[in-house]
Amino acid sequence: MNGSKDMTTAELTSGVRIPLIGLGTWPLAGEDASAAVAQAIEGGYRHIDTAENYANEAAVGEGIRRSGIERSQLFLTTKFNSEWHSKDGVLEAFGHALKRLRTDYLDLFLVHWPNPAQGQFVDACEGLQRLVDDGAIRAWGVSNFMPAHLRIVHGAGLRVPLNQVQIDPEHGQPGQLAYHRDHGILTAAYSPLGRNGAFLSHPAVTGPARELDKTPAQIVLRWHIQHGRVAVPKSANHQRQRENLDVFSFVLTQGQLDAIDALETGAPPRLDSDTYFH
Ligand code: A2P
Repeated sequence: MNGSKDMTTAELTSGVRIPLIGLGTWPLAGEDASAAVAQAIEGGYRHIDTAENYANEAAVGEGIRRSGIERSQLFLTTKFNSEWHSKDGVLEAFGHALKRLRTDYLDLFLVHWPNPAQGQFVDACEGLQRLVDDGAIRAWGVSNFMPAHLRIVHGAGLRVPLNQVQIDPEHGQPGQLAYHRDHGILTAAYSPLGRNGAFLSHPAVTGPARELDKTPAQIVLRWHIQHGRVAVPKSANHQRQRENLDVFSFVLTQGQLDAIDALETGAPPRLDSDTYFH
């Protein structure tokens, strides 16, 4: 393994590395999604993140084919809805995902929401572990699981490799991240640049941007990476895609990281995983 590859990826499970920057694809659809994915891969992205609920898996698959990349060079993540929360259901969800994406395996397959009222997310995780054991997917994980949900999964004897949650400088979810740290769960940040977050124009971000000749988005993505997180920023814009991937050639100081950490507001994520699901 060469050094530069190592710097841009993290170990997810034994023998499986995940690129630290992935392309988020919500709410891209149809031709917009295909074109954005093809353009991203041509520009160097090797990690694409989609979901059943984004209703764009077929278009994402089309973009992957259009790019001409070999499947083995790409890390592909998708997620499934609560209707598949059973061991057999996960197998069925997997079959549907492969068909829509027109691929023959997944690198990472995630439970999209825990839906605790339904009470079957442990079965979903067990179904995913079975897919890994069978070699159908390379790794599994969850998304939007709060510590209370993760505790139940761990109580069933499973180890969760990754949780994809909403994290940005103003939504740092310190309790959530501490749980991940204590239990060896890799964090993937969705909406890593927020949605119109004021932090992109805060001096804690614009200061280092000026100093390092980077954009505020690059500073925030670098902050995620130096905290050991994967980030999946979404953009269909060519220039933004390029800058979002170009975050491995500079380093923030501890003081700069601390200043961005201090933007934390204590605000919860946009959606409440105890009640929201699809
Ligand atoms: P756009 O898609 O117009 O480029 P999400 O929460 O779904 O990840 O949304 C990402 C948001 O961050 C979008 O509004 C996206 O805008 C914006 N964004 C992505 N990359 C950049 C960037 N480099 N600079 C500023 N905003 C960005």
